[in-house]
Amino acid sequence: MNVELAAKIKGIFSEHFSAAPDLYFSPGRINLIGEHIDYNDGFVMPAAIDKGIYYAIAKNQSHEVNFYAADYKEKLCVNIGNIKKAAGWENYVLSVVNEFLVLNKPISGFDCAFGGDIPVGSGMSSSAAVECGLAFALNDIFNCGLTRTALALLCQRAEHNYPNVKCGIMDMYAGLNGKKDHVLFLDCKNISHEYFPLQLKGYKIVLINSKVHHSLASGEYNIRRQRCEEGLPILKKELNISSFRDIKKPEDVALHKNKMTTEVYNCCRYVVDEIARTKKGASMLQKNDLAAFGKLMYETHKGLSELYDVSCAELDFLVTYAGADRNVIGARLMGGGFGGCTINIVKETAVTDFVEQVTAAYNKQFNILAGAYIVETGDGTGRINLLLTE
Ligand code: GLA
Repeated sequence: MNVELAAKIKGIFSEHFSAAPDLYFSPGRINLIGEHIDYNDGFVMPAAIDKGIYYAIAKNQSHEVNFYAADYKEKLCVNIGNIKKAAGWENYVLSVVNEFLVLNKPISGFDCAFGGDIPVGSGMSSSAAVECGLAFALNDIFNCGLTRTALALLCQRAEHNYPNVKCGIMDMYAGLNGKKDHVLFLDCKNISHEYFPLQLKGYKIVLINSKVHHSLASGEYNIRRQRCEEGLPILKKELNISSFRDIKKPEDVALHKNKMTTEVYNCCRYVVDEIARTKKGASMLQKNDLAAFGKLMYETHKGLSELYDVSCAELDFLVTYAGADRNVIGARLMGGGFGGCTINIVKETAVTDFVEQVTAAYNKQFNILAGAYIVETGDGTGRINLLLTE
């Protein structure tokens, strides 16, 4: 946890509001494998990280909902009877408030300040962290009694609604249920998980931020989801299955290639491959076979780039560069794609050199200064007490 940042958000709250606030932390997430299959009944392997969004929040005994977004230095004041779709960051918080109202939960006016240390649009899911932090805090201060799973589903509906991104459950679920030094093996059909210890002896997870703008709201994300929704009924009928996960042999999808457009076929093929890869990846991670796991990460990237079509020249460059470095055992684009970060598993002793070299080569090629983060896993969304950490 970033104690300084938490204290800063608390200080910012006090500059704008008068009550003594409660503090919450809501993490971003990484995802080791299982990309774009959370909304396709797949399995995914995310983990919460130690970076995220901090909230300072207090009831205000009125019907006014007041937000101060520290990262934008912007304020928003709305009557709770007048919550509606807006634009930008406002949509993420207002949509969460709206979902509590839809469920008739007993919330009323509150003041809050929030801000964090995850770069927006980097693929570390800052939007889910904003949503989950607010949902968790409202549930807590107004005693709404929602479980972590119910909060994850509420935040997913919130993201579908005002921001209009038809995301899966992975980001919210991972943020709310993360556990330090563990990854989740999340079954997105049954919405349940197991924890796997993350043992990266001698290796580190390094994210390289391409700084290419990543906006799921641009509609491309929703288009990928639609392609899968178009292909699935055809496969259901032809293969007598009820879900992508029931297709045991990925080659079976190819038998029905002529019944769909190339785009739809490629997406379905990728999904079936990736579900199989994630299951394989889980057993490799349990056996601590990092080298084999890393190979699967490269395969995932290839599928995301060539079949699912969510990569770009910058991400392909970063992954190819990593693939040529013997100290990197796995790399791929992470998250929705179209920019954002790559995730790399790098030998600990070589991290500094790798970061220096890949960022220099990237800068030479694209004239962009990439960002680099060595991530640590962390616990899920929760209340924090600065007194205990000082
Ligand atoms: C975004 C979405 C997730 C998931 C990933 C791709 O992060 O929010 O639900 O679909 O993209 O795996």
